[in-house]
Amino acid sequence: MRTRCIQHISLFIAAIALFIAADGLQAHKPVTSKFTYYEHIQPLFRFYCGGCHVSEGIAPMSLLTYKEAYPWAESIKEQLLADSMHPWYDDESFGIFTQGQRMTARQLDMIVDWATGGTPEGVQNPISSYPIQAVEWSLGMPDLLLSMPTPTLIDANSWEKTLDIILPTGLEEERWLTAIDLKPGYPGMVHNAIVYLTKNTSNLVPESNTDIPADQILGTWVPGQIGSMAEDTAYHLPANAQLTLRIYYRKTWRDEGIEQSDQSILGLYFASQPPQQTIHTLVLQQIQEIQEETDIIRMVQTFARDIVLNGIMPVMSSAGQSVRIEVETPDRKKIGMLRIVQYDQGWPIRYDFKEPVYVPRGSRIIITGTYRTEEQETTNSNETSHRMKVWVDYTL
Ligand code: HEC
Repeated sequence: MRTRCIQHISLFIAAIALFIAADGLQAHKPVTSKFTYYEHIQPLFRFYCGGCHVSEGIAPMSLLTYKEAYPWAESIKEQLLADSMHPWYDDESFGIFTQGQRMTARQLDMIVDWATGGTPEGVQNPISSYPIQAVEWSLGMPDLLLSMPTPTLIDANSWEKTLDIILPTGLEEERWLTAIDLKPGYPGMVHNAIVYLTKNTSNLVPESNTDIPADQILGTWVPGQIGSMAEDTAYHLPANAQLTLRIYYRKTWRDEGIEQSDQSILGLYFASQPPQQTIHTLVLQQIQEIQEETDIIRMVQTFARDIVLNGIMPVMSSAGQSVRIEVETPDRKKIGMLRIVQYDQGWPIRYDFKEPVYVPRGSRIIITGTYRTEEQETTNSNETSHRMKVWVDYTL
């Protein structure tokens, strides 16, 4: 009797399992897309998403095999159509930058078609299984490696942290810096980093959530993306320069409730000889008290001499929504520099122009930022006003 009962139960379980499996299959929509994962979609995911959506990367899931990617089809479609992924929001009708190439409209259509058309798998080819080297130095071995002196621990109950790490270069002579790169100790937690030249070490707090000091920014880093300077331009590093590495750590749900640690290494690349152009930085900043109706900040600065713009980095407070940067020449011609339609504080990026932009004397740079009103309550309690800072890198 007992055995029969068990038999029944196991039959019943088998039936449920079959039912679930069949249901799982039914969840696959009929295949209407002519694009397959391995032939058309995976190359795009590798190129545009693979820096982050790789196993143990900063994004919560890998998109690099069919099994890992197809369950996310609906969410991928949503994120792409909402312009939320991948996270560079620049509008190419404005400037064109060295980092973060944007997907073309055709590529986007292809992914959306695949995601809604039954997500066909296609046939794996040798290239589709090459590993993505997310953690290697993509510009080759750096000239100087600066390791964080101690590991950072994020305890089991925390999920994010911003840390300023002071790194003395120990350089006895001045140098010219052409690029930076970062090798995270634990890539699943290192969300982004900013490196700046520390001028005033006395007012730095080792662990801070304050604004980025208005020092010169030498580079920004997000996974899978590094910028490099236009040829023959570089930042000047004085002898014994001190750098500050600001890392923003954020755990994914994979590490919820788990203590994790990271000890990243900063890599610096130097020019072999003094460059023709040294990059200077101008920091524009404005604070505006929150007003219910005017949630727009405008900053205007006139250039008193001819300059060449190399890069631009806007940083807004958390309610920041969009930013638009233009230059108006003395003859009233407007040149679009950068337009970020959906600003995200989580991805601070310096946008380096692919072709540096010549700006004649008397031109004005006009920066317009907009803010979301409904998020005012959720901003940090010490954030009583909207802030915007813009780093403008130029050569003379
Ligand atoms: C620079 C890193 C980065 C790149 C590049 C990137 N993502 Fe993401 N993505 C993330 C992170 C981190 C998250 C988790 C949510 C967050 O922190 O915003 C995420 C979340 C997502 C989600 C939502 C997952 C969820 O939990 O619902 C989807 C879908 C997605 N990404 C798709 C893509 C696609 C498709 C691309 C390429 C076109 C891409 N992402 C490129 C970092 C990245």
